[in-house]
Formats: sequence, structure tokens, C-alpha cells
Amino acid sequence: MSKILVTGGTGYIGSHTVVELYKAGYTPVIIDNLSNSNIKMLEQIEKIIGIKPEFHQFDLCDVEQTTAFINDNPDISGIIHFAASKAVGESVQKPLKYYHNNFFSLINLLEAYQGKKINFVFSSSCTVYGEPDVLPVTESAPVKKATSPYGNTKQIAEEILEESAAAYNNYNIIALRYFNPVGAHESALIGELPIGVPQNLLPFITQTAIGKREKLTVFGNDFDTPDGYCIRDFIHVVDLAKAHVAAIQLLEKGNPNGKYDVFNVGTGNGYSVLEAIKAFEKVSGQALNYEVGPRREGDIVKVYGDVTKSSKELGWKAELGIEEMMSSAWKWENYLKENPIG
Ligand code: UD1
Repeated sequence: MSKILVTGGTGYIGSHTVVELYKAGYTPVIIDNLSNSNIKMLEQIEKIIGIKPEFHQFDLCDVEQTTAFINDNPDISGIIHFAASKAVGESVQKPLKYYHNNFFSLINLLEAYQGKKINFVFSSSCTVYGEPDVLPVTESAPVKKATSPYGNTKQIAEEILEESAAAYNNYNIIALRYFNPVGAHESALIGELPIGVPQNLLPFITQTAIGKREKLTVFGNDFDTPDGYCIRDFIHVVDLAKAHVAAIQLLEKGNPNGKYDVFNVGTGNGYSVLEAIKAFEKVSGQALNYEVGPRREGDIVKVYGDVTKSSKELGWKAELGIEEMMSSAWKWENYLKENPIG
């Protein structure tokens, strides 16, 4: 079956996508520099699929290594490009790190494929919509000025990809705009592995519940929403992983929409931060220690996606609900307590 290169394949979304690609009959090949992931995830993947995927450790910002790898592997028919720096707060402190990592890796990959046919799936984000004027937000909503260098890298990367697809005839590209990925594989063998203090809501919730953190601080509850808390479209990471398989399959069939396309990847449902906490408390059977603090700068108030296009044209739809997201994240945190990784 076709070989698919998964950059950032030992990371959170990457590892789940490797599993789903394999289950769909593909041969995933991973490149990761392990800057934000752990080599032990390879063994964890092996426990699920029965084989250790081919793995190469290097930095895609290294143009020689990237070009040599692509030239040595002409049987790769598709790329899913996750490898990137992704912490919003850090990107404000270190914008050059974000522009360097996220652009050099992308451009090196694209240049290495010049003149060679390639299907390319890019890991983008609903952050490109900023605070949307209309909800649920559709793919045709305007892209708003980014609120962080991280968000800006996603916007500019989408432009680089769209312009490259238009200018050269060898690239067939889909950008997937993720909403808020949460949860873990049902086996609890892979999941999110934050290095240091988690910046995102769900790992902070599970780490608080297990006793690694004293309490969760909720960043504000006086927003213009029904319960005053921010609203997000949480999407189960396994559903998200399956969206990548669907994107590769659409590119293989030939996308009638053309050589560059974007899709929202969410459930279409908005849950408030408080509703997420309540859902977690329900599935875990324990009260979460949290307090409401000040707002976090740059937070979007409410965002959830219109998933009509994904369901009709990508042939993909989220299947797992908020309780499965919470229970799988909790099972994974408990697994980590018994089997520490990293
Ligand atoms: C952010 C980015 C998104 C990126 C994602 C993953 C923006 C606008 N969004 O999403 O592009 O893909 O991170 O890195 O740049 N919260 C708390 N307490 C916490 C943590 C979070 O109350 O300790 C709240 C936040 O205020 C927010 C919600 O939980 O309302 C979700 O936050 P988070 O998980 O960080 O994701 P986003 O900010 O939505």
C-alpha cells in the first residue's frame, strides 16, 4: 500500500494519525526531531498496531537532510505535515523560533518535491478565523489578522500552499483547519504528552484531577456567552486523525475542487469551558479543583465550525462526543500515572 510520510508523527495528533493510516492500509513513515515528543511513543504505537513504524530523527529545517530523504524515498505518495512549533504563548515570546521552524520545514519539503507529484495534507487551525463574525464558521469566512506569531504561521503557510499549488502542477494540497483536539486513543496507549506545564485546557484538567497540578485556573467567566465562559468546538483526536486519512484518500481520487482546498475539522458543536469541566467531572466521578481567574490575553470568546463541507466533500464526520473525549483523556492520564513516559 501507499507510503505516507507523517512529519511530527511521534507527537499528539501525529501518533494517532499513524495508527489510523496503518488501520486504513497505508504504510506510515515518520520523521520527527523529537523536540516536543518522546521516542517511546513509537513503542506505544507498536503496542496498538503490532509493528514499529519506520522512523527517522531529523529536523526538517535542515535542507540537505530533507532533500536527501525525499530523493531516497521516491515511493512516498503523500505527506501529512504536522511538524511545527505550536505553543501560542511561547510564539509571542519567541516569534523568530516560530517563523524559522514552521516556514523552513514547510518550504524545504515543498522544494524537495518540486517536479515530483505529491499529495500534501497540512495541519492548519481554526485560529485563522480569529473571532468569527458568524457562527458556526464556514471555510469561506474571512481570515482575520492573527493574534499570535503561531497563528500567523498557519495563515501564511496556507497562502504559501495555495500559491504553490496554483503555480506548479505537481502539488495536490488540502489544509485541515482543526478546532480544539482533545482525548486519546481508546487503548489509552497513546495520548497527549505535554512537556512542562500544559498550556491547553484538557491536559490541565486531567493533570489537576490526578494530582500533578494543584488547581485549574479558568481564564475568565464574564464573556458574552450563555454561561459567561468561552466556547470551543472540542474534537476527539481519533476523529481528527481519521480526517487526515480521508484527506489523503480524497487527494488520491482527485479532488474535484482543485489542487488546493481547505476543510474545517470539528464536530460543529460548541461547548463552554464550564460544560467541558462538568463533562469531565461526570465521566471521572470526581470534583475538579478549579477557580476562575482573569482573562488570558488573545483568547477567542467563541468559535465552532460549520462541518457541512467536510461531511459532503471530504466524506468525513466526527463520531465521538464530549463524554468519549473526556473519558479517553482521563484513561490516558491514569495510564501515565502507572506507566510514566518521559
Ligand atoms: C489555542 C490556539 C489554537 C491552537 C490550540 C492548540 C488561538 C486563538 N488558539 O486554542 O490555534 O491550535 O491552542 O495549541 O491561538 N483555558 C483555561 N485554563 C487553562 C487553559 C485553557 O481556562 O489553563 C481556557 C482558555 O481560556 C480557552 C479554552 O480553555 O477558553 C481552550 O483553551 P486552549 O486549550 O488553550 O485552546 P485555544 O486557546 O482554544
